[in-house]
Amino acid sequence: MKIEFSGIAVPSQGTIVVGVLEERVLTPSAQMLDGRTSGALSRAIATGRFKGKKNQQLALVAPPGLTLDRIIIVGLGKASEIDTLRLEGIGGSLIGALNKAGDKVAAIVVDAIDGAPLPVGRMAAAIAYGARLASYRFDKYHTKQKEEDKPTLTELTIMSADAGAARAAYQPLDKIADGVFFSRDLVSEPGNVKHPETIAADVRGLSAIGIDVEIMGEARMKELGMNALLGVGQGSVRESQIAIMRWNGAPDGFDQQPVCFVGKGVTFDTGGISIKPAAGMEEMKYDMAGAGTVIGLMKALAGRKAKCNVVGLVGLVENMPDGNAQRPGDVVTSMSGQTIEVINTDAEGRLVLSDVLWYAQSHFKPKFIVDLATLTGAIVVSLGTYQAGLFANNDELATRLIAAGKAVDEHVWRMPLGDKYDKDINSDIADMKNVGKGREAGSITAAAFLQRFVNDVPWAHLDIAGMAWMKNGDNPTVPKGASGYGVRLLDRLVHDHYEAK
Ligand code: BES
Ligand code: MN
Ligand code: ZN
Repeated sequence: MKIEFSGIAVPSQGTIVVGVLEERVLTPSAQMLDGRTSGALSRAIATGRFKGKKNQQLALVAPPGLTLDRIIIVGLGKASEIDTLRLEGIGGSLIGALNKAGDKVAAIVVDAIDGAPLPVGRMAAAIAYGARLASYRFDKYHTKQKEEDKPTLTELTIMSADAGAARAAYQPLDKIADGVFFSRDLVSEPGNVKHPETIAADVRGLSAIGIDVEIMGEARMKELGMNALLGVGQGSVRESQIAIMRWNGAPDGFDQQPVCFVGKGVTFDTGGISIKPAAGMEEMKYDMAGAGTVIGLMKALAGRKAKCNVVGLVGLVENMPDGNAQRPGDVVTSMSGQTIEVINTDAEGRLVLSDVLWYAQSHFKPKFIVDLATLTGAIVVSLGTYQAGLFANNDELATRLIAAGKAVDEHVWRMPLGDKYDKDINSDIADMKNVGKGREAGSITAAAFLQRFVNDVPWAHLDIAGMAWMKNGDNPTVPKGASGYGVRLLDRLVHDHYEAK
């Protein structure tokens, strides 16, 4: 779908969308169109339930005199409440409606609104961004899709009185959407296609947009003593990889200390010898979503040329049962020197992250580390699919993440850490074990485990097990399937606090 910006004009073909405010107050372009159609819009509104509430829609056939096909009236709600999130949602819902109706070309008219908090260019850009995010499809493996199941919309024009400002405001958003899409693609792909080696190859491709890429294979990891990560990949025929991405966008004279993001990239999680039940196991192809988010985030930051230094690291491993696989009860020595008793080979994400986190803090001395991982089923029980679990050893970082989450509608909810949970992972025969007390506080003991590998670096952990994959798709800008959750959140965190202005 191509998105373009232009001035306001009644198009000669396709569908036109105009806005109406709460209490059936027509925007200037809705009034103009009402005039051109001898009052067709106001009559349609008067006869039905349409009140102009946010996201309400009413479609009518264009009356004689106009060559275009259809008119959609969309509710904007109260003028004072028209913020970016509302507009993104409206843009997203419109994409759904236009494709459902079979429209090929459409124009959305965006008027300046008295009492609205945003200038018209920003409003137009937000609608375009929501539309773009909603247009995502992963249908490359359908060879027999029926015409009527394919999206039809190929051209969307966002019309406003300030197309220049709209285009400028959209430019970085378009780059963030590229990152979200890259992340969704990686997570949607099955485990036979995207495994550690192929994802590492995809990351290498990011050097084309100015990211420095380094890939570590198993030989290098052995030298470094990363036996916790290596143990997880031991049963797989695929070689484990760590991909390191560096974006150096900080201008001269600005703080050069990098910020750091770490992702769990278990490209398929069978559970290993502690094998998972068959039902639903196919979902474990998305156990690399933390890595998918970090990779997409790096693409977004480099794409919009963020003015700061950022390091992204992803631990790419496949967790398989095998004659050579790690056993329950095995003890491994991590890169940090700390020993781990592997009670359950299905608690593998924390083992992978332990070595990547240790390497990240010791090698890059970052300002902070945020890790993302589909770490525990327990966080899905706690928070469902509406927000990620946030664990942090630093209140400022936690507060900033919560605010960024609200700003972009990717919410996080802070969960506790503490000595008592930490003691739950002490082992009888090693420094720690990789599970706590049965099912109790499963997400917290997992986070407590990670905390032992970050030293005193400000750190936050996002357990995204409930957020990485959307089974229904009731959020207009997040289609069913891989969500790309976290790209927008962390882009916003960087933008608001860690970039040169
Ligand atoms: N990848 C899973 C967690 C998961 C569950 C992600 C559901 C997405 C959806 C993780 O590796 C895992 O298996 N965790 C175990 C930990 C347990 C063995 C302590 C779990 O949550 O059951
Ligand atoms: Mn597991
Ligand atoms: Zn896992």
